[in-house]
Amino acid sequence: MSRKLTGGLLLVFFAVLAIGYAGVMPFGDDSPREVTDDNGVAANGDPVEVGEAIYSQQCSGCHTIDGSSGVGPTFQGLYGSEVTMEDGSTVIVDGDHLLLAITDPRATNREGYPDVMPSFDNLSEDEIAGLVAFIESLE
Ligand code: HEC
Repeated sequence: MSRKLTGGLLLVFFAVLAIGYAGVMPFGDDSPREVTDDNGVAANGDPVEVGEAIYSQQCSGCHTIDGSSGVGPTFQGLYGSEVTMEDGSTVIVDGDHLLLAITDPRATNREGYPDVMPSFDNLSEDEIAGLVAFIESLE
């Protein structure tokens, strides 16, 4: 191999290295990179924290966590309580009821509230599990 060719190859080698390095180093951005999912929620976080984050973004407009009523029922003390549905039946709120109410809101309708709860099919399984854990934590 000629000297010239070796030099050229070395140059290419270093150029590739430099580009590769620039690719992995977030220049001009020294904040740690957080892995987030489609809804901007930290992935693999504590379920209650995942649920709380989704709650603040997508549920707090209609549901409070301090016992006061909003468009929908408060989440405070909801878990484990007995609630009455529009058809007069009663349900003890558990994980299954929450899951159904969040993923298929038309299937459940609390007495005295308009049936306006939106369907949240955009949420991932982890996010729904997080919401259930969050509501459970407000018992
Ligand atoms: C536009 C207002 C609105 C938003 C936003 C909303 N909800 Fe609701 N939600 C309601 C209303 C009104 C009801 C009561 C009627 C019904 O049961 O469908 C309700 C009912 C519920 C119930 C059933 C309560 C029970 O005791 O049966 C759950 C659980 C619930 N919402 C969870 C959520 C979660 C979690 C979010 C956010 C991801 C959310 N809601 C966002 C309006 C809303």
